[in-house]
Amino acid sequence: MPAPLIAGNWKMNGLAADLGEARALAAALAETPAGTRVALCPPATLLARMADALAESAVLVGGQDCHSEHAGAFTGDVSAEMLADAGARLVIVGHSERRAAYGEDDAQVAAKALAALRAGLEPIICVGETLAQREAGAALEVVARQVRGSVPAGLGETAFAVAYEPVWAIGTGLTPTIEAIEAVHAAIRRTLVEALGAAGARAPILYGGSVKPANAAEILGAAEVGGALVGGASLKAADFLAIIRAA
Ligand code: 13P
Repeated sequence: MPAPLIAGNWKMNGLAADLGEARALAAALAETPAGTRVALCPPATLLARMADALAESAVLVGGQDCHSEHAGAFTGDVSAEMLADAGARLVIVGHSERRAAYGEDDAQVAAKALAALRAGLEPIICVGETLAQREAGAALEVVARQVRGSVPAGLGETAFAVAYEPVWAIGTGLTPTIEAIEAVHAAIRRTLVEALGAAGARAPILYGGSVKPANAAEILGAAEVGGALVGGASLKAADFLAIIRAA
């Protein structure tokens, strides 16, 4: 099993002044290394500067989304190759905020994951049910269907991660019970193994949605939880570090 991956998603937050948080995180991890892989995914505007600031550190830098094409007439978009060129090593694809706000479907997410592969980036492929889907008893089925549609077969031999982020737990302070997290992670694992065999057995499955210093140890200790995708609590080095130390 690979080391856990603790990734911070800054979403549309962060100006140059906030690079100090990334530097503080790197300094703390240099002094006392973590037993995990650590990544920060800043907005695209900060990616190159953050990659430079963290170049000598153990903290990886990632993008939050990429286009599936490598270049072309796609105003406002950023390709996986551009992220890699700016210093990224990973990229989040299929975040629920993009699925909801831009109508991204599983096929587009799979194409983005393949673009990441083409550019040498490790994709973090996000899935997760809405509250209505959970209340209808459909969470496992929805998530398994998203995994089947969003994780391309071509990923087989490369590093990738899946992030389970229940939509209703994002930014709300709500989290599923540990039993509920374990049930979904087990379903994701079964689906990955069916689709990809041994590679599907290796890929870390991250949990995301209101991960905080106070709940990180319990969540990260749950069966088949191979790391965390952290939003709000990744913006401040002290909070993110506390989550990393809990793993
Ligand atoms: P929060 O940790 O702020 O709930 O966000 C989770 C998330 O969406 C990470 O991608």
